Amino acid sequence: MGEADAPGSETGGHVAPLDTTQAGVTVAIDGVSRRFRSGFLALTEVDLTIAAGELVAVVGPSGCGKSTLLKIIAGLLTPTGGVVDFGGSRPETGYVFQDAHLLPWRTAIRNVELFLEVDGVRKAERRDRARRALRLVGLADFETSYPAELSGGMKMRVSLARTFATDPELMLFDEPFAALDEITRNRLNNDLIRLQRDRGVTGVFVTHSIGEAVFLADRVAVMSPAPGRIVGVVDVPFGDDRRAELRTSPEFAAVARDVSEIMAAHEVAEGHEIMAAQQ
Ligand SMILES: Nc1ncnc2c1ncn2[C@@H]1O[C@H](COP(=O)(O)OP(=O)(O)OP(=O)(O)O)[C@@H](O)[C@H]1O
Ligand SMILES: [Mg+2]
Repeated sequence: MGEADAPGSETGGHVAPLDTTQAGVTVAIDGVSRRFRSGFLALTEVDLTIAAGELVAVVGPSGCGKSTLLKIIAGLLTPTGGVVDFGGSRPETGYVFQDAHLLPWRTAIRNVELFLEVDGVRKAERRDRARRALRLVGLADFETSYPAELSGGMKMRVSLARTFATDPELMLFDEPFAALDEITRNRLNNDLIRLQRDRGVTGVFVTHSIGEAVFLADRVAVMSPAPGRIVGVVDVPFGDDRRAELRTSPEFAAVARDVSEIMAAHEVAEGHEIMAAQQ
């Protein structure tokens, strides 16, 4: 098959954003609980409203129900109590997992095209959008590389590009950078801030890392050990100005301390049996 040239994608090195008009969507999580068939109560009475264009990080100990909550927001799991309301129909949603989940027999650009193919987007447009998404994540020169030829950080960039190429109104991130070294993780955080904030997409970002949560988010929601519920929400007062130096500032440390104090207060009270059970 011949390569379809992307019409209008090359304008003297300037790369047009995929879609700058995304307004994002509001997500109202209202009294959400989830009991599994085993009888295990994973979430109880979770209340959280995420404004259009806002990025909320969710932190909490392993097993507290963070992935369960994301799956419920995505509509992959139904809550056994409560509702998630988007103020209308279910938004176009992008989901980024810890593992990049790339198809090893496809080149980077063909991996980015995958969801567009599933959505029935025509080849020329697919190629154009995939190419621009790869540029946005800094991988313009790696279109024809296979996953085996890419580092862990690069694979995750392809995974981000694949999701952003679909122009979602809502982005759900389930610890996407947890397996990466700190330097790569920080770099990807810097890029994600640009991708997410420039485009005004609403996002929920699950992480174990308090530093990552504070660096990325407008607010950090802290969950208790299972059954998970929101035990505190910390405002992050840094606006869109998230340069790398922020991480070493006293203001940053103060917000991170607020988050860890909430976590610590609930860990001691309820968490030790869970931790013991997971050993
Ligand atoms: N299908 C299922 N059936 C029964 N229990 C489940 C199921 N899925 C998850 N659980 C349990 O629900 C709890 C929450 O799981 P979940 O994966 O949401 O936790 P998490 O906060 O994402 O943990 P981690 O940080 O380790 O990823 C865990 O105790 C888990 O064992
Ligand atoms: Mg999880």
